[in-house]
Amino acid sequence: MKPLSPVVIGSLLILAWPSAHAADGQKIFNQGGQNPAAMACLGCHGPDGKGVAAAGFPRLAGLPAGYLAKQLEDFRNGSRKQPVMEPLAKAMEPAEIQAVSAYLSQLPADTAPDTRRQQIATDPVTRLALYGDWNRQIPGCVQCHGPGGSGIGEHFPPLAGQPAGYLVAQLNAWRDGSRSNDPNQLMVNVAKAMTDAEIKQVADYFAQLSRPEVKP
Ligand code: HEC
Ligand code: HEC
Repeated sequence: MKPLSPVVIGSLLILAWPSAHAADGQKIFNQGGQNPAAMACLGCHGPDGKGVAAAGFPRLAGLPAGYLAKQLEDFRNGSRKQPVMEPLAKAMEPAEIQAVSAYLSQLPADTAPDTRRQQIATDPVTRLALYGDWNRQIPGCVQCHGPGGSGIGEHFPPLAGQPAGYLVAQLNAWRDGSRSNDPNQLMVNVAKAMTDAEIKQVADYFAQLSRPEVKP
């Protein structure tokens, strides 16, 4: 057998190194990061990462890892301003962000969205969610956020099952500029075109959409 070349040995070391030094996503979630300011996530996002609706703390379980890591980076770089998460994200190491995002993306979400609601929309709120309002250049939310608001890929997060208060806060954050992290201003234009009443109604619509007990 030929001896391993230095290049092969080098790549084996590179492959082995991150796992030996990897941050532990589950531990960060349950106990926090190395820096005590990176508090345990479960205290606010719930023991299973499903969020706390009454407090408006969002669900993180089952969200795409790329989306979660981007949000934590955005809290760090100031394109998403929020008094609780900003210092917390700034206290995290990049490796911790990657690890906790990967861990969270694997947690079960329990939110199979009810796509039957997609089919016919008669009331104005459902119509806005499904088809948008082209006179005001609002595309339907599900066109980017997926059927039933269940999310698509790494870039379009789920809306279904998020607390209504959280969804309202995000739409208002785009309107007042405290959240400006959306690629190509996809969301800022949508949020600015909506009325206060529509924001509230569409948030309620998506918040209750995926609960298993809700049937159309
Ligand atoms: C003290 C409460 C608290 C703790 C602890 C906390 N969070 Fe949060 N988190 C919040 C709040 C409140 C929001 C909503 C922020 C907003 O309105 O923009 C949030 C939002 C987020 C978001 C954005 C979700 C989305 O859908 O865009 C991510 C990601 C996140 N937190 C990750 C974490 C991680 C990872 C930890 C643990 C290391 C953690 N949080 C710990 C309160 C907390
Ligand atoms: C053209 C595509 C597009 C359309 C249409 C769209 N969104 Fe979004 N939305 C996005 C993207 C991209 C993000 C993630 C931005 C980021 O990276 O933080 C997002 C994020 C959000 C978030 C934040 C979710 C979270 O977990 O923090 C809310 C709330 C939201 N959208 C609501 C809506 C609503 C309500 C509608 C319909 C009225 C809508 N969106 C239509 C692209 C879109």
